[in-house]
Amino acid sequence: MEVVVQKTPAEMSAAAAREVANVLNAKPNAVLGMATGSTPLGLYQELVRLHKKGELDFSHVTTFNLDEYVGLPITHPQSYHHFMHEHLFRHINIPPQNIHIPSGTTTNYRAFCEWYEQRIKQCGGIDLQILGIGTDGHVGFNEPGSSLSSRTRLKTLARQTIDDNARFFKNRDEVPIYAITMGVGTVLEAGEIVLLANGKKKAAAIAAAVEGPVTSMITASALQLHPSTRVYVDEEAASQLKMREYFDWVQEKKPGAPPA
Ligand code: F6R
Repeated sequence: MEVVVQKTPAEMSAAAAREVANVLNAKPNAVLGMATGSTPLGLYQELVRLHKKGELDFSHVTTFNLDEYVGLPITHPQSYHHFMHEHLFRHINIPPQNIHIPSGTTTNYRAFCEWYEQRIKQCGGIDLQILGIGTDGHVGFNEPGSSLSSRTRLKTLARQTIDDNARFFKNRDEVPIYAITMGVGTVLEAGEIVLLANGKKKAAAIAAAVEGPVTSMITASALQLHPSTRVYVDEEAASQLKMREYFDWVQEKKPGAPPA
């Protein structure tokens, strides 16, 4: 894992956007894995800005979102369908047929999840997966205890996640209890992974994910098994990292390193 500490969430977002831009410049028909929530908002704003400047073309890009709440119609303001269209898709030139978001209203979840997995494979796999992290260490909605080889499936949200996400709803009772999410195994098959986190609330989860043991109790820790994961954090989210000095040293020495 490469850990890149940025001073502010804005710098974290800009660095992650550069990473997405590099992937799209190298492979204009790349497949991107998308996350929702408050963390990637700055990244999506930056991608929209680069697109409007004529520097990023999404006309051949395909996307797969990590997850969706069960039971929310796609028009619900808190559905991840709505989120993605509002914050990214309606501002860029991605063809609608290239957008994939799990269905939270299908009548057959098992069949849908199998189809979603197959569709990712048909599209050649995910080149770059963007991730946030829950305060309980989840990626996607792979709550503590999720199998580290899990695939796309239905999950029951942890109480902590429901509490955390209540801020987006009028009251806690409105937060869906179930979600459909890519599995940890699905995420680990991405070519590259970018994990973003900002704020003090994420500090413990980031330290556990980066420096703790690989454990299903912190599903983000499974990213330690992935050969190409970069973690972009702001100062607050980095505040509990014991290896901080080494992570900064690596970044400082990067320009002088021989080409890998
Ligand atoms: C969202 C997702 C979740 C969030 C995580 C952090 O698609 O997969 O894992 O990334 O819950 O959410 P925020 O960014 O709102 O703190």
